[in-house]
Amino acid sequence: MRLLFRRIKSLVGVGHPPAALRGTQLAELNQLSNAWLLVEGERIHSFGSEDETVLLPEADQVIDCTGRFILPSFCDSHTHLVFAASREEEFVDKIRGKTYAEIAAKGGGILSSARKLAALPEEQLFRESMAKLEKVAAAGTGAIEIKSGYGLSVAAELKMLRVIKQLKYSSRIPIKASFLGAHAIPPEFKENREGYIRLLIDDILPVIEQEGLADFIDVFCEEGFFTPDETIRICEAGKTIGLRPKIHANQLTVSGGVEAGIKLDAISVDHLESMAPETIAALAASNVIGTLLPTAAYFLRMPPPPARLLLEAGAALALASDFNPGSSPSFNMEGVVSMACIQLRMLPEEALQAATINGAFAMQLEKETGTIHPGKWANLLLTKPLSSLAYIPYSFGASCLHQVYLKGSLVKSA
Ligand code: NIG
Ligand code: FE
Repeated sequence: MRLLFRRIKSLVGVGHPPAALRGTQLAELNQLSNAWLLVEGERIHSFGSEDETVLLPEADQVIDCTGRFILPSFCDSHTHLVFAASREEEFVDKIRGKTYAEIAAKGGGILSSARKLAALPEEQLFRESMAKLEKVAAAGTGAIEIKSGYGLSVAAELKMLRVIKQLKYSSRIPIKASFLGAHAIPPEFKENREGYIRLLIDDILPVIEQEGLADFIDVFCEEGFFTPDETIRICEAGKTIGLRPKIHANQLTVSGGVEAGIKLDAISVDHLESMAPETIAALAASNVIGTLLPTAAYFLRMPPPPARLLLEAGAALALASDFNPGSSPSFNMEGVVSMACIQLRMLPEEALQAATINGAFAMQLEKETGTIHPGKWANLLLTKPLSSLAYIPYSFGASCLHQVYLKGSLVKSA
């Protein structure tokens, strides 16, 4: 099957950068105006300018894109999509003045999600997660990372990871799995942190290795959760079975998570709401991607992460949704891009590249997706007719997407 998109107002994000974009590079978004794009089967075959092409390629289907943009699908490199139930009661508690940390300390938050997940049969968890993934795909996400971390016991962590593995086989969205057993200390180990860490390393990691259940290892490095030393120890154990670290760092406090991530050669350090000047400098001088989660900061009424300072220092930044029931109940990446522009003062070009190619790098999927390039998956967003690219983040709350393609197949049409 050959699909030809014609008269594209602008083909956005063409090319194939060799490394995650950093600093000023993020604002340099390659575009081709009045373009055509040929998709063959699941992959991008070729593209060119209508002005310069004498003979367009033959195709089975031709789609006229007059006035519309085509972009690579969003690459959402940080989510907790597998969860059992929403937590809007905490949303109301926060309106009344409680903080995220206070709710967590009283057994709410992550621990409440863990209690609900433990009670849900694996099959039901899988079905509900599949249904969420369908909505995620329709919203324009074409690759996603999903974490465990609402299990917090051997059985429930493995249940989550097996559900994610089953999602990999069943969903059209490419998925990467992260083991986040170190998301919180479960109540039964409150007086025995060492016992829980041993359980993660000695009881769960060997099964993950045996069954191929994860690609990355994650730790919530934060006051009241896991210390930098514990983070390093858990991640080093993960590395011995081939899991590259991706760390929750500096969300609520200047936690030392960024420095731990740099030491570990993590693929990314995520959140970064609480950054000291020397932490910004250290991250910018490293090859670790800083993943910002603007909807989580907004939802928790946290100060937005210092995107401008990070970019001025030359850091590589990605944007992700952090989709989870506690701090970001939205998976909508158009919303993430808007919020990055509004709250973080990222330019539309910076935000779009952070949410596509740099997200792909943060999942080690950059060879397959994240830009428009021959040989990559045809994971594409066709917009409504738009006056300019900046209209996408400008019109926050309303979708600019007309059609969504995953591996060459239409998954949503407005
Ligand atoms: O990324 N910060 C830790 N983990 C999640 C929130 C998890 C939850 O509250 O359920 C986050 O914000
Ligand atoms: Fe998270």
